[in-house]
Amino acid sequence: MLNKKSVEDLAVKGKKVLVRCDFNVPLQDGVITDENRIVAALPTIQKLIKDGAKVILCSHMGKPKGEPKPELSLAPVAKRLSEKLGKEVVFAKDDTVVGENAKKAVSEMKDGDVVLLENTRYRKEETKNEDNFSQELASLAEVFVNDAFGSSHRAHCSTVGVTKYVKESAVGYLMDKEINFLGNAVNNPERPFVAILGGSKVSDKINVINNLLEKVDTLIIGGGMAYTFAVAQGGKVGNSLLEADKVEYAKEMMKKAEEKGVKFLIPVDTVITKEFKNDTEFKTVPTKEIPDEWQGLDIGEKSRELFADAIKNAKTVVWNGPMGVFEFANFAKGTEAVAEALANIDATTIIGGGDSAAAVNQLGYGSKMTHISTGGGASLEFLEGKELPGVVAVDDK
Ligand code: 3PG
Repeated sequence: MLNKKSVEDLAVKGKKVLVRCDFNVPLQDGVITDENRIVAALPTIQKLIKDGAKVILCSHMGKPKGEPKPELSLAPVAKRLSEKLGKEVVFAKDDTVVGENAKKAVSEMKDGDVVLLENTRYRKEETKNEDNFSQELASLAEVFVNDAFGSSHRAHCSTVGVTKYVKESAVGYLMDKEINFLGNAVNNPERPFVAILGGSKVSDKINVINNLLEKVDTLIIGGGMAYTFAVAQGGKVGNSLLEADKVEYAKEMMKKAEEKGVKFLIPVDTVITKEFKNDTEFKTVPTKEIPDEWQGLDIGEKSRELFADAIKNAKTVVWNGPMGVFEFANFAKGTEAVAEALANIDATTIIGGGDSAAAVNQLGYGSKMTHISTGGGASLEFLEGKELPGVVAVDDK
């Protein structure tokens, strides 16, 4: 259990409550293409509305690098949120975030009203956690609630600094749920515990691999990062993704797995192509015998069976990172097979955010998983065993 004050512990009637959400949602031409993070934020917002708080929401969107960028405005989020909540969300359109519009909107709020501030990263102080912007944010409210799990690995004004200047702070329902699911899976798993890691780079997952080897019974490596392990086992991987400077590390990790009695699996076969595109010639070969000029873009059929077999008796599974280039239909089979294997087992299944969450949802298996994290970088840092600054900063119970 998280030893932090929660929204449940607050008396908010008539109080102004600033809530940090992660509304960093994908946008295409101003249209939100995946609203999961908005939906995930609703329980906390609805609870505060019901309890009669004046709810002031804030979030970042993308990386505007400290200046207003109209294409990264939170205006589309305000609109979608209004539809979801069935009530008006007043958008305070200030390039300075806490400007005249925000102050006026907040001063006119009645109990249960909702205001959304502009993208916090329009301010250059935000990512440097500078006091002046933290104070400005805090000046709008008496209470601060951090529900932005996806941003909790960032020590920014709106996640950490602001807590210094409010009377009281707490975590929201989403933050609580994320930490409990991920925390229980990693620190108190029902066994066998299997972790599946994919994605393109070993270097992104160095500390995750190291930390998970202390905890799991089986570690499965797929995706682009598997080729570095194949080379560490003496294989030839042609033009596949390879981090030559991580081959030694890969060897160390395999040795550690052996010492700890952890079953360590990499793909035995690979779907290869000469060109990085969907409509092109492809074939399946053993992972360690990829010819020159060819590159692996997905795990092969034998690997799909091998991995599904290793998953089938698991009681806890954590998955982060796709098995191949699942955006291309011809190279999505490995990722799909893992999603299907997870959907069909009687186990706690946790999907780390980012690409694997997108893959599971896109392939239609979302509702079959126990928990799909809304955090990409944050869930990875959690799996590395790190403390998340946005959680640490909140008042203890
Ligand atoms: C995410 O999308 O992982 C979070 O919103 C954090 O975004 P950031 O990596 O830009 O801080």
